[in-house]
Amino acid sequence: MRHLLTTQTLPRDAAIAILDTAEDMAAVSGREVKKLPTLRGRTVVNLFVEDSTRTRISFEVAAKRLSADVINFSAKGSSLSKGESLKDTARTLHAMGADGVVIRHPASGAPHTLAHAGWIDAGVVNAGDGAHEHPTQALLDAFTIRRRLHGEASRGQGLDGVTVTIVGDVLHSRVARSNLWLLRTLGAEVRFVAPATLLPYGTASWPVTVGVDLDAAIADGPDVLMMLRIQHERMHAAYFPSEREYARQWGLTDARLARLPARTMVMHPGPMNRGLEISAAAADSPQSTVLDQVANGVSVRMSVLYHLLATGEAS
Ligand code: NCD
Repeated sequence: MRHLLTTQTLPRDAAIAILDTAEDMAAVSGREVKKLPTLRGRTVVNLFVEDSTRTRISFEVAAKRLSADVINFSAKGSSLSKGESLKDTARTLHAMGADGVVIRHPASGAPHTLAHAGWIDAGVVNAGDGAHEHPTQALLDAFTIRRRLHGEASRGQGLDGVTVTIVGDVLHSRVARSNLWLLRTLGAEVRFVAPATLLPYGTASWPVTVGVDLDAAIADGPDVLMMLRIQHERMHAAYFPSEREYARQWGLTDARLARLPARTMVMHPGPMNRGLEISAAAADSPQSTVLDQVANGVSVRMSVLYHLLATGEAS
């Protein structure tokens, strides 16, 4: 594998191999010296053209734990956004000898362009492009689900028959899209629950069932309830009457938390709007995997960087 741009075309055995290597990486993260020499002498550039805290830091920690040299290139405030200027940045990174580029960009497709335009000879990881995809988030979510379900016996497992309900701002969510493709590949059943205004066009042809009623979805007792952030920064219109109304109808409130089966895990990719899509009690409950997701993110990104860069050739 040369690049990780999408989960839509990621084969099941490649996905499981990434999750299995992440198990090894998690073991390293549990040691006193959390470091492997795997990427010594290699340079990984974090090219973040859109705001991020946890994803950027997570990739930085992952690359450093593999002994890579890490350059953080945040384009906030610069004129860099797309087209010609992405090309110029790519040429610069090429001249600096970047072996891997982790890119987050507001334009859907920017990582694909970077990987395939011929400007740069580096492995490219999509760290979130517009509302399109966020493959490492989906992989870390799958890893988190697999571990909660199977613990020590996770290796080699898919997520066959696992039911996952994804709730909220699906329209703007690259997390929902990447999760849908990967979860389906791993054998899970996926449902979206959202106000009709926050569902993308075209879901009828996607391998997902769609609903508007969160209470009905909870009554079905899914294995996983994944709450999405309301992405105010991508909203240029009123998609719901008020925040209070949204929380009442589509938020994971304390009352809904009380009705969830004990085995249902509560996920959120962060950052959370506490009190809007998820109550503080739900976010902090033992059923919540929010902090596991953050910790697992490092292991999964170590694994992805390993698969892309460690061998120096297609694997
Ligand atoms: C997600 C993202 O940026 O797409 N967050 C993340 O990667 N930690 C989800 C979000 O911003 O809501």
